[in-house]
Amino acid sequence: MQHTSYIEISESAYQHNIKYFRKLLGKNVRISSVVKGNAYGHGIENIIPLAENAKVNHFAVFSASEALEVFKVISPGSNIMIMGYLDDSQLEWAIENGIEFYVFDMDRLEKAIAIAKRIGKAAHIHIEAETGFHRTGFEYTSLLALVHLMKKNKEHIRFTGLCTHYAGAESISNHHRVINQIAEFKRFYSYFMRHGLKPEYRHTAGSAATLTYPQTVMDMVRVGIAQYGFWPSQETFIYQFKTNKANDSDLKRLISWKSEIMAIKYADAGDFVGYGTSYMANKRLKVAIIPVGYANGFSRSLSNSGRVLIRGKRVSVIGSVTMNTMSVNVTDIPNVQKGDEVVIVGKQGKLSISVASFSEMSNLLNYQILARLPGNIPRVLTK
Ligand SMILES: Cc1ncc(COP(=O)(O)O)c(C=O)c1O
Repeated sequence: MQHTSYIEISESAYQHNIKYFRKLLGKNVRISSVVKGNAYGHGIENIIPLAENAKVNHFAVFSASEALEVFKVISPGSNIMIMGYLDDSQLEWAIENGIEFYVFDMDRLEKAIAIAKRIGKAAHIHIEAETGFHRTGFEYTSLLALVHLMKKNKEHIRFTGLCTHYAGAESISNHHRVINQIAEFKRFYSYFMRHGLKPEYRHTAGSAATLTYPQTVMDMVRVGIAQYGFWPSQETFIYQFKTNKANDSDLKRLISWKSEIMAIKYADAGDFVGYGTSYMANKRLKVAIIPVGYANGFSRSLSNSGRVLIRGKRVSVIGSVTMNTMSVNVTDIPNVQKGDEVVIVGKQGKLSISVASFSEMSNLLNYQILARLPGNIPRVLTK
């Protein structure tokens, strides 16, 4: 092992997850694979070929720089959609290459039209509606001017999408707000239709809305976390369990994160392990040192509380997680030695550690844990 840890990504798990969504959605709904945040830590260059093998050919990113990463690896015929940041200097590149992008203010639309006119290529735009999230999106009251500009420049723009984003569809506590957003989105859609502007795709749902609000599944859904095998929340799983008899393995995690023991140490009763005095041995302990620390994405808040798997057993992190290492208590594991496999996330023998349990312990969401996995940990595809 040249690096201190590596991440395995399972192709069959990905195929399985997409199958689950296809069954749920039917043939007529397009899946946009959300690959922002380096494909939620999985690596854009790993996920795109898997997705294309599963006949997913639409990819959503946050920024133009992420779009460029996707552009380098996609096949002809696949589409890219930028949902967020796009500097004026990147607009021409996007339009020239048929990259779709969100438009949430007049400034971006005016600039896009000017470039489209100049280069003789239509801009592929998704109009984002402000329905209650209060992040980006056109206010309903600004639609008159927007529609006027769009109609005047019909040949320079392609109305690829009308979209919005829900403010927390993964939690019942946001139900009222989400229901209002759905109604508001309908009002936007009707407005455009009344003015003879029909978007090719209406898309509003991320993973949670797709799984729990069937009425939000329109022409396309933007699936992020669930394609990587994670239920967005316990509530979304329970909803699927009740309505579709889902079981926990209907979504399979793609990722396993592994390392190996770098050294074995002993500490006598009364000795402190690691920095400071947060952990004192109460008997003679055998301690394995693992070359993964907070600089490698293993949160410092897992000090004295995290777990990893060694020789098919769950063992505890003792002392503080340092920048490059953690120490675990292997006193009760016979024959443990330097070079033994360590599973930080994933399965070993009969046991497994999910990103979810890991994040509950460190109070971070799955999303954050995944997105924080450093890009320089090697990713290996497995069947
Ligand atoms: C606009 C938008 N659409 C879709 C998604 C995907 O969400 P999820 O990972 O919950 O499926 C996100 C993620 O934050 C988003 O910001």
